[in-house]
Amino acid sequence: MRVLVTGGAGFIGSHFVRRLAEQGTEVSVLDKLTYAGNPANLEGVEHEFHQGDIADPEAVARAASGCSAIVNFAAETHVDRSILGPRDFVHTDVLGTMCLLEWAREHDARYVQVSTDEVYGDLEAGGRAVETDPLRPSSPYSAAKAGGDLQVLAYVRTYGVRASITRGANTYGPNQYPEKLVPLFATNALDGEALPVYGDGKQVREWLHADDHCAGIELVLHEGAPGEVYNVGGEDHENIEVTHRILELTGADASLIRHVEDRAGHDRRYAVDDTKLRALGWAPEQSFGEGGLPATVSWYRDNRSWWEPIKSGSYRAYYDEQYANRLKA
Ligand code: NAD
Ligand code: DAU
Repeated sequence: MRVLVTGGAGFIGSHFVRRLAEQGTEVSVLDKLTYAGNPANLEGVEHEFHQGDIADPEAVARAASGCSAIVNFAAETHVDRSILGPRDFVHTDVLGTMCLLEWAREHDARYVQVSTDEVYGDLEAGGRAVETDPLRPSSPYSAAKAGGDLQVLAYVRTYGVRASITRGANTYGPNQYPEKLVPLFATNALDGEALPVYGDGKQVREWLHADDHCAGIELVLHEGAPGEVYNVGGEDHENIEVTHRILELTGADASLIRHVEDRAGHDRRYAVDDTKLRALGWAPEQSFGEGGLPATVSWYRDNRSWWEPIKSGSYRAYYDEQYANRLKA
């Protein structure tokens, strides 16, 4: 089996490429190398690399040649950036998904869409989303991802494409671009910089290690049924708990915490029921607070050469746009 992994130079995609390559599976990667794509994530990993846009049918055809399956990780992924400007999100997460589905349709390829628990929207305390729940996305990011999911389901029903969808929880681990909560707060804490907690910090997310997330996606690739959706869950924690644990692990002082203006439209809680994936044999191996988070923070401590060059140039401009006024207030 030769697999096309799109977005393979990003955070979760690169873990997935490494996983397949270590098993001896041939991998072709298609990645546009946006600000979030980083060839260093794939150093030492056997693969064939193609730089290009998933919304460009010719780039897709070149990269997919000889592949019998596509696993689509390529996306614009950061909620805060989608609030600053949604255009790229719709281009990649909706139109790009459709272009990949077209190739899968023409070549009768297996297809897995890597989606997100955010498509279910804000959840009441106590409830957990199941795969048949309605989609109620809140942000331009999650709306674009929901649009991609709907394209997938339409291609299954209309053209019989053998596609499945995974909806994963908040993922953490090495090689995550330092705009998301865990890598941003870990690297800021290591540098003695402020940790900007949105609002009261009592929002709840489910935390899932990248390796556990990839194990779930791989299982769906091989065992998932066409037209079916599979949630991939994690461990529930409030943001403020995660923040204090990162301070403990880095040895930084709690005075770095700054409660700042909340994210617009901020979802209070995500939580999924992942019984369906567990029934296929999946179970997470990493516990967040005891194993996964300490190892991840150690990785950022030991790999400054990976993130220090990122946290300059255009990153700095983004950071100022996102946080300067919040931190001044
Ligand atoms: P990321 O932002 O780290 O990486 C995205 C990758 O996609 C980058 O390498 C980027 O260069 C590439 N890319 C972007 N636009 C492209 C385009 N038009 N054509 C080709 N490549 C393009 O993302 P991530 O956090 O690794 O997320 C991967 C996937 O998993 C996404 O689909 C995301 O929605 C989903 N997901 C992420 C999380 C999470 O917590 N990070 C959780 C659930 C689901
Ligand atoms: O739930 C899955 C989703 O998880 C993925 O689909 C997205 O691609 C991924 O980015 C992530 O989305 P979130 O918005 O939940 O992740 P983020 O790390 O941006 O934020 C996590 C929580 O932390 C959220 O409640 C907002 C809060 N936060 C985040 C940042 C960046 C802060 O309080 N301060 C911050 O500076």
